[in-house]
Amino acid sequence: MNINDEFVVTIEKLSNLGTGIARIDGQVVFVENACPEDEVKIKITKVNKNFANAKVIEIITPSPHRVKPFCPMHNVCGSCQLQFIDYNYQLALKKQMVEDAMRTIGNIDTPVNNPIPSPEIKKFRHKIQCPVSQTRVSKKILAGYYKPQSHEIVNIKYCPIQPEICDKVIDFIRNKTVEFNISGYNEQKRTGDLRHIVLRHSADNRELLVTLVINNNKITEKLSNFAKTIFETFEKVTGVCINFNSKNTNVILGEKTICVCGRDFIYEKILDKTFKIGASTFFQINPKSAENIFKYVKEEISKHEKASVLDAYAGIATFGIVVNDVAGKVVSVEENKESIEKAKEVLELNNIKNVELHCADTTKYLKSIKKKFDITILDPPRKGCTKEALDETLKHTKEKIIYVSCNPATLARDLKYLREKGCTVENIQPFDMFCHTYHIENVVVINL
Ligand SMILES: C[S@@+](CC[C@H](N)C(=O)[O-])C[C@H]1O[C@@H](n2cnc3c(N)ncnc32)[C@H](O)[C@@H]1O
Repeated sequence: MNINDEFVVTIEKLSNLGTGIARIDGQVVFVENACPEDEVKIKITKVNKNFANAKVIEIITPSPHRVKPFCPMHNVCGSCQLQFIDYNYQLALKKQMVEDAMRTIGNIDTPVNNPIPSPEIKKFRHKIQCPVSQTRVSKKILAGYYKPQSHEIVNIKYCPIQPEICDKVIDFIRNKTVEFNISGYNEQKRTGDLRHIVLRHSADNRELLVTLVINNNKITEKLSNFAKTIFETFEKVTGVCINFNSKNTNVILGEKTICVCGRDFIYEKILDKTFKIGASTFFQINPKSAENIFKYVKEEISKHEKASVLDAYAGIATFGIVVNDVAGKVVSVEENKESIEKAKEVLELNNIKNVELHCADTTKYLKSIKKKFDITILDPPRKGCTKEALDETLKHTKEKIIYVSCNPATLARDLKYLREKGCTVENIQPFDMFCHTYHIENVVVINL
């Protein structure tokens, strides 16, 4: 098999990164933008030792699961890879991805439940991080999302997965920057003013926090005036902040944020609790779907009489705060100082007295205590937990671990380790938070 060779194949399934999988003489070929049951003509784009990559050049017989994408920019934007697949079938494919990870990585045969769908499959995204650049000749500001596997910006004026106000604010910024003599960022030369627009929108009260990420370490008068204009133009914008990031990095937000107008957070509601979310606060991008996860975890905890709960990798202690009224005592541990500060405010706001906060690395915190908890909630980043963190969790948990994960591969790896240590996997429940992408969140109940 060589580059540019053409073949006709039938797509068997979807890989864990959302590409179609076909086989040619036993060799796996990953086909971009293909759906299981498609019969397609493909062109090989790359040949590796054990697999090849290809693109579709003709759809001969479309899969019955193909639908017309509802976004006009679907073909150029890299955000919603699976939008051309019927939503219910997306869920079936995601379930299969979780099953594959459990079987191949975790050696786990516990059945995987059907994924709980997102309550909304349009306008569900409430955190938007939009890169900004500027065309060389016409000096037009571009703001949108990246093309697949590139840093080329697609200038998106309407994005159906985000609330309409976000389109309006981004378009306003795109047009007004010229008037205020603010330039877009040039990634190669590291010049220009505006790098990103970061928006946090409340699914509850529709407030919007706008953060302008600038390639500078101080606020100029033109930027300050520009922020004021945004604030005064949109009634629902409750704050405009400036974040400073002049580093040569892919990390979007720099360390320092200054609030120029209004307040530096929005209010969001999850179940009966109110949260404050700032530009850099970790909070789920799809709050309505997240609510299903919180409800599920809360129900699991309420099966135990006033259990003592460890909420590890806590962010702004969202789990701790949501489950506090069915738990006995809750200890939330989070290493990010800013999140802990926000969590303190949220505890006060909700008048919660039984959640204790610790700003620490989970492993270090557990090593420093003797206490055992009835239930531990683990919600680590995509890389999962270290063996040391899992060992400490086992030492400090009496009955159950509830593992919340956004990465089936690292989840399966960690479950394998926990099973080797004698735990049993009781239930695997996927939740769809990131509709139209290959991402899937899971909550796993583990018995000790
Ligand atoms: C996936 S987020 C979960 C946040 C929170 N549970 C929620 O639902 O909003 C993971 C969190 O773990 C924190 N974190 C990462 N490594 C950590 C560690 N070693 N110890 C404690 N917290 C950590 C991150 O700062 C982040 O807030």
